[in-house]
Amino acid sequence: MSTPGDYDAVRRDIVAQLKKPDYDDGSAGPVFVRLAWHSAGTYDAESDTGGSNGAGMRYEAEGGDPANAGLQHGRAFLEPVKEKHPWITYADLWTLAGVVAIKELGGPEVAWKPGRTDLVDDSKVPPRGRLPDAAQGAEHLRFIFNRMGFNDQEIVALAGGHNMGRCHMDRSGFHGPWVNNPTRFSNQFYNLLLKLEWTPKTLENGIQQFVYVDPDAEEGDEQLMMLPTDVALITDPKFRVWVERYAQDKELFFDHFAKVFAKLIELGIQRDATGVIINSDNVKGGYVSAPKKSNTPTGLSQRGGGCPMARL
Ligand code: HEM
Repeated sequence: MSTPGDYDAVRRDIVAQLKKPDYDDGSAGPVFVRLAWHSAGTYDAESDTGGSNGAGMRYEAEGGDPANAGLQHGRAFLEPVKEKHPWITYADLWTLAGVVAIKELGGPEVAWKPGRTDLVDDSKVPPRGRLPDAAQGAEHLRFIFNRMGFNDQEIVALAGGHNMGRCHMDRSGFHGPWVNNPTRFSNQFYNLLLKLEWTPKTLENGIQQFVYVDPDAEEGDEQLMMLPTDVALITDPKFRVWVERYAQDKELFFDHFAKVFAKLIELGIQRDATGVIINSDNVKGGYVSAPKKSNTPTGLSQRGGGCPMARL
């Protein structure tokens, strides 16, 4: 076990988990970033509920939300890190893993502060339905992200998370990567959105996404894709202004992404002048992480065979 508070040791062990030759595109980085974002993206500014404090995805109510399908892989990949550093809370570990992955995939340094606590039961897990629905458009994006306290510029910067990773049919129902190199953080997502022609395609499961039909594609080449919400970023004129700026100016995008991701993982976290978290809603748990549930991403839920992803 490391010394409690040695976050650099935790960072190093997160880095050691990133390389995964047999998983997706060879990196756990993208699923770590999505785990961090979904842990925080439940925040509701009006009721001051949800957010990364609590790590509610350990419970079926949040972990089993179809919007979180696939994130059990990220949580399972982080279990060896938790085992080596049992003093860190899941809420801190998941947000730190996202920040470490962004940096290691070539992205900016995102400010991260520790101190989040873990819920000790599911009574404060936020209700489902707070995360975005990729089948919708600009109005929905504003509805979801304004609720967290983000403006148009911040929404477009955050959507740049889709420079990493891919969609999985067995998770979201969408399929494919956004960019050619999905394990390298860049502003390519914005360039491709603007430069390529995005054609609607209905997948065999009936879900509609957008694809680039490459006339030079060879057999076995993977088609690039965009979600309906991604395409909304170029059809909505106010969003489009920021897509154009980020496509032209990688430095600006990196700077804005670092700021907005740091804001995302602090949503709902209240700190005193010294940076110590003073949230009272989770005081029962204190700075103690909840008991581990399972080492593997599969296996039946404790509650009546529900969702397999609920146990971590
Ligand atoms: C704007 C609203 C958003 C929508 C509708 C959305 C939707 C989706 C969907 C449907 C997937 C595919 C999941 C799968 O099948 O595995 C996905 C993946 C991903 N999203 Fe988003 N997302 C949004 C915002 C964000 C934000 C804010 C970030 C981070 C800053 C982000 C980062 C990612 C990453 C890294 C992946 C790839 C995960 C992997 O490879 O396993 N997304 N997103």
